[in-house]
Amino acid sequence: MERTLVLIKPDGVRRNIIGDVISRIERKGLKIVALELRTLDEETARTHYEEHTDKPFFSSLVEFITSGPLVAMVVEGNRAVEAFRSLAGATDPIIAAPGTIRGDYGLDVQANIVHGSDSTYSADREIKLFFPNLA
Ligand code: PPS
Repeated sequence: MERTLVLIKPDGVRRNIIGDVISRIERKGLKIVALELRTLDEETARTHYEEHTDKPFFSSLVEFITSGPLVAMVVEGNRAVEAFRSLAGATDPIIAAPGTIRGDYGLDVQANIVHGSDSTYSADREIKLFFPNLA
């Protein structure tokens, strides 16, 4: 079984769609094995997005992801990384297909509701960052 890190970003929490995102994950047959509501500190946010340090939007991304509580989850299942990214839809909600989380709710490339690890390698790193005590 594969694991991925899913975040319901602060825009998703502010818009009260935690329940719908969780429902979609569970309907897909994926299992939530860890879950926490928390507000990220700047250092954790910078580490989480370290591969984007040189991007022009990095500081805006860090400010946004620390702007309020988010929901962090470890999601497990068959090809969980790909399965969740398919539920999430494209990064840009204007392009994301209707029926996907971002296609249905996302506003722009920053306020796009959810994050999902982009590979099993990233999933491993991100899960250790958010849930260091998870077996
Ligand atoms: S890239 O440039 O292709 O590597 O970026 P991408 O993988 O599409 O997106 C990485 C995360 O950065 C966010 N993002 C942005 N935030 C603010 N402004 C702009 N212009 C922007 N472009 C991308 C995007 O929401 C991704 O966040 P996560 O949490 O990884 O989904």
